[in-house]
Amino acid sequence: LPEHLYSTNNFPELKNDLMLRAARGEKTERVPVWVMRQAGRYLEEFRAMRAENEFFKVCQTPELACEVTLQPIRRFQLDAAIIFSDILVVPQALGMTVEMIPGKGPSFPEPLKLPEDLSKLDKDVDVNKTLGYVFDAITLTRHKLEGKVPLIGFSGAPWTLMCYMIEGGGSESMSKPKQWLYKYEEASHQLLNILTKVIIDYLVGQVIAGAQLLQVFESHAGHLCARTFNTFALPYLSIIARQVEEKVRAQGKEPVPMIIFAKGAHYAIEDLAQSGYEVVGLDWTVNPKTARHQTQGKVTLQGNMDPGALYASKEEIRTIVREMLEQFGTQQHIANLGHGIYPTIDPDHVEAFVDAVHSISEEINLD
Ligand code: CP3
Repeated sequence: LPEHLYSTNNFPELKNDLMLRAARGEKTERVPVWVMRQAGRYLEEFRAMRAENEFFKVCQTPELACEVTLQPIRRFQLDAAIIFSDILVVPQALGMTVEMIPGKGPSFPEPLKLPEDLSKLDKDVDVNKTLGYVFDAITLTRHKLEGKVPLIGFSGAPWTLMCYMIEGGGSESMSKPKQWLYKYEEASHQLLNILTKVIIDYLVGQVIAGAQLLQVFESHAGHLCARTFNTFALPYLSIIARQVEEKVRAQGKEPVPMIIFAKGAHYAIEDLAQSGYEVVGLDWTVNPKTARHQTQGKVTLQGNMDPGALYASKEEIRTIVREMLEQFGTQQHIANLGHGIYPTIDPDHVEAFVDAVHSISEEINLD
């Protein structure tokens, strides 16, 4: 590929800044919309790519990751792209083996079992060496997007990554990492600190590479309670928001808006609104009006249609979108699902969702 596509200078000018304005709490003429897991198996062109390439090979090859990132952008009127990668590239950077097993999901052949296992991690990881492929994918994608929409970078949050590193994969209860919280409190904080440090470097690197917003996925907040969230999740999330901003500035770049999506953290919405993030993402179990009341205009809210609602008819999807937009109001809102799309969703219904957000939010704004 030509050298200039890996240069962070001379990115194409951004033509659609709705997402950025909404994230900063500025006025928007309509509600911006993107979809968690918008690049994924519900798209046949994604399945075709995956038939030829192993999951982490797609992540690790900038041309492939860029191509997959652009797939939903070509189909739908989305207001943002999200770089194709996975939250589990961070445990890989720390030296752990992660496999993506078809039909099962991620699997760690050697999860952390006891506090002494922390010594096996490469604590002083240089993200430019271990995760440079993500930075290259971001830079390449910024060029290839031609300024159509902004590009979101992301990372898993410390507690969520700790879950996978100890549990070794997905789980109903996350009982192993929860045991650590109650039995090995000190080692838990050590691990969370190791993760926080690399996550900060990783997110700063993504901004330097060209990411225009950042989302932090605390996907397993629902396994915590208010008490353990306040001890083992929230402090690290706040440090990440603060230090990413400081370190981006220290490198002579403007900080970018940050989104925190803590799935299942309905008990923490007020605290999350004061944790240093511009946007708080809501899962579909949260009532938008309650969240507005709890956050009092301090942050933009993102979400939160039930991903399952994409199984409804297109007419029904419009009705559900209208109700959602009326509940959120059309300012300080970024429309999204309350979690990722399921692989069995019909892409035409995703289009119906996206188009409904456009036309209905414009209509409400004109009233
Ligand atoms: O389009 C996008 O949203 C960007 C890409 C993206 C992926 N994973 C691709 C992916 C993003 C942002 C993620 C984040 C991620 N990964 C999270 C946080 C979001 C969430 O869902 O809560 C988590 C928990 C993971 C870990 C992970 N990766 C799991 C649990 C799985 C298996 C899930 C499943 O549906 O099988 C993955 C695999 C994965 N990551 C796929 C995709 C498109 C599907 C696997 C495949 O292609 O075979």
